[in-house]
Amino acid sequence: MHDSDEIILHISILITFLYFGLVNGQNYNVLDFGAKGDGQTDDSTAFVQAWNATCRGDENNTTLLIPSGQTFLLQPIVFNGPCKSTSIKIQLDGVIIAPSNITAWSNPKSQMWIGFSSIFGLVVDGSGKIDGGGSSFWELKLKVSQRPTALRINRCNNLTIKGISSINSPKTHLSIKSCNYVAISKINLLAPETSPNTDGIDISNSTNINIFDSTIQTGDDCIAIKTGSFNINITQINCGPGHGISVGSLGADGANDAVSGVQVAHCTFNGTMNGARIKTWEGGQGYARNISFENITLINAKNPIIIDQQYIDKEHPHANEDSDVAISNIKYVGFHGTSLNEDAITLKCSVTTACKNVVMDDINITIEDGKTPKVYCQNVEGETDDSELLGDCFKSNSTS
Ligand SMILES: *[C@@H]1O[C@H](CO)[C@@H](O)[C@H](O)[C@H]1NC(C)=O
Ligand SMILES: *[C@@H]1O[C@H](CO)[C@@H](O)[C@H](O)[C@H]1NC(C)=O
Ligand SMILES: *[C@@H]1O[C@H](CO)[C@@H](O)[C@H](O)[C@H]1NC(C)=O
Ligand SMILES: *[C@@H]1O[C@H](CO)[C@@H](O)[C@H](O)[C@H]1NC(C)=O
Ligand SMILES: *[C@@H]1O[C@H](CO)[C@@H](O)[C@H](O)[C@H]1NC(C)=O
Ligand SMILES: *[C@@H]1O[C@H](CO)[C@@H](O)[C@H](O)[C@H]1NC(C)=O
Ligand SMILES: *[C@@H]1O[C@H](CO)[C@@H](O)[C@H](O)[C@H]1NC(C)=O
Ligand SMILES: *[C@@H]1O[C@H](CO)[C@@H](O)[C@H](O)[C@H]1NC(C)=O
Ligand SMILES: *[C@@H]1O[C@H](CO)[C@@H](O)[C@H](O)[C@H]1NC(C)=O
Ligand SMILES: *[C@@H]1O[C@H](CO)[C@@H](O)[C@H](O)[C@H]1NC(C)=O
Ligand SMILES: *[C@@H]1O[C@H](CO)[C@@H](O)[C@H](O)[C@H]1NC(C)=O
Repeated sequence: MHDSDEIILHISILITFLYFGLVNGQNYNVLDFGAKGDGQTDDSTAFVQAWNATCRGDENNTTLLIPSGQTFLLQPIVFNGPCKSTSIKIQLDGVIIAPSNITAWSNPKSQMWIGFSSIFGLVVDGSGKIDGGGSSFWELKLKVSQRPTALRINRCNNLTIKGISSINSPKTHLSIKSCNYVAISKINLLAPETSPNTDGIDISNSTNINIFDSTIQTGDDCIAIKTGSFNINITQINCGPGHGISVGSLGADGANDAVSGVQVAHCTFNGTMNGARIKTWEGGQGYARNISFENITLINAKNPIIIDQQYIDKEHPHANEDSDVAISNIKYVGFHGTSLNEDAITLKCSVTTACKNVVMDDINITIEDGKTPKVYCQNVEGETDDSELLGDCFKSNSTS
């Protein structure tokens, strides 16, 4: 590089700094901290330094800028708070990739690839993409505990995630844990239908969450709501392929788990393995209640409506004879479209607690070849406006 070019470069960087400094609060561009963005060089150290400046500087409203047109390679990394700035933005316009093969990961046993912890007022925005390079993990058929989550946000308040995409996560794409007040919108989460445990969004121990206007096409749950989650609104999600939107699983190994206040509305299940699902382990404790699924469009979904209160497998023997996670106040209103198999509605509730106050209205599920949808109900108490299809369901009330 000629000296004069270098001077011009420095001046333009300076002008950029001044411009954003005056207009938007302080911007920290990862390129200014030594990131190469060539898709080959490990840019982790540059990102940590840029983060440190963004988080620990004295200004408010700081932005970490990951510019478009470049590809940044990151090893497992955690961006820690709390920050001095009261509002932190990550402007993600470029592409971030993980090492393309597990053999090149600095710590392949890490629980996450990119983590954010204890940050308040975090905004992640932009048209950029993260690519977790999951295929080498899937190829080895590693257990779910041996694969990292692509993006994990732990302990946050007032989190916004908007616009970004995540592809090919080794496990869950986006995990939200111990957060309060979260808005997630216009994101795309993509992985092959056959990829294992690639949930779109997992929520646990979190309250006041809004997820809307997003596309989730993966190999497992589009959204899974786990214990400690309350007041969750999910609207306008295009889900599928994937395993639907699921509450649970709850109560594994006798755990006392709780979820309440989940409203799912105006979502589409297109070619999903399940649609609206609630899943609790036999012998668990706690509850799943005040859950509604409204105005759902089905396109060749399998098992569009399913409750399994008696989930069990070899690794989790029945933990407790006389309890199960209680399921109550569940609404299914406005399910329209096609189911791929005849078993359109399965409510398998336990003798111990039964499912209570289940409401099913305006259900119109058709089967591809014109067959009548099958409804299977066990120990369900509730009501419906469609006695022809569902009358028998609620007759078989709990015998206790
Ligand atoms: C982080 O930033 C603070 C304040 O800007 C600085 O004092 C400290 O040396 C930085 N630490 C690292 C590891 O860069
Ligand atoms: C940042 O915001 C906080 C809370 O609004 C305020 O107390 C503090 O003075 C601000 N700092 C700067 C440098 O503006
Ligand atoms: C930070 O941003 C908020 C909202 O965007 C604004 O109200 C506030 O004035 C900004 N503070 C500073 C120090 O720029
Ligand atoms: C990862 O590397 C191993 C060993 O070099 C190779 O056998 C495997 O096919 C690679 N996987 C992918 C997905 O590239
Ligand atoms: C966080 O969100 C709550 C509720 O919307 C609001 O009352 C509070 O002021 C927000 N805090 C910050 C730091 O933005
Ligand atoms: C749940 O989140 C709260 C903060 O909202 C935290 O104090 C608590 O430790 C978390 N519990 C678990 C089990 O993670
Ligand atoms: C979810 O929607 C309900 C009903 O519209 C509303 O009362 C509640 O505040 C919403 N929750 C969030 C987190 O926005
Ligand atoms: C449903 O999924 C199929 C296969 O992925 C796709 O071709 C079709 O466009 C989708 N339909 C809608 C309405 O999104
Ligand atoms: C469930 O909803 C009912 C009203 O529909 C309300 O009275 C109750 O407090 C809610 N319970 C929980 C745990 O959210
Ligand atoms: C579902 O659709 C019906 C009819 O269009 C509408 O009245 C109702 O408000 C919708 N429910 C939700 C939760 O949006
Ligand atoms: C159910 O949906 C089918 C296909 O969309 C439609 O032809 C039929 O009229 C609907 N039935 C009712 C009772 O709305």
